[in-house]
Amino acid sequence: MTRINVTVDGVSNADDVEPRMLLVHYLREVVGKVGTVVGCDTSNCGACTVHLDGRSVKSCNVLAVQADGHEVTTIEGLATNGELHPMQTAFHENHALQCGYCTPGMIMQAVDLLRENPDPTEEEIRVGLEGNLCRCTGYHNIVKAVAAAAGSMSSERSNA
Ligand code: FES
Ligand code: FES
Repeated sequence: MTRINVTVDGVSNADDVEPRMLLVHYLREVVGKVGTVVGCDTSNCGACTVHLDGRSVKSCNVLAVQADGHEVTTIEGLATNGELHPMQTAFHENHALQCGYCTPGMIMQAVDLLRENPDPTEEEIRVGLEGNLCRCTGYHNIVKAVAAAAGSMSSERSNA
């Protein structure tokens, strides 16, 4: 077993883990962050996407020991002071989910997409989300939601 220290959603955790344990299993089974889900375990679907030091990663593609000394944000840490993140609000308002299984990963990926490109075109949104699969929505409302979040985040910035 290896001792790791990982800050998850602002809380620091010190745990002994098997060196082969995947980050997604650490988050779900050890830290209890079950909002992050496993869709494939083979880095294809993006359902397990979280932020590692602010950048999106597929947490089934990272070992827990690789997160030692780093900060992880999951979908459960995105809201602040009980206020949904603008991306969560936009998914809600634009009906960007059906079964919701892809949603945690989709939202985490979309937040990182806007961090890199705050004003993306529809095409850039589609390309930015191509590592995240959704079996229900046909993607149209997801793209609409990300564009809406980009708009609301940009007006928040100009009002700040
Ligand atoms: S569970 Fe990680 S990409 Fe599918
Ligand atoms: S809403 Fe069901 S997989 Fe995306």
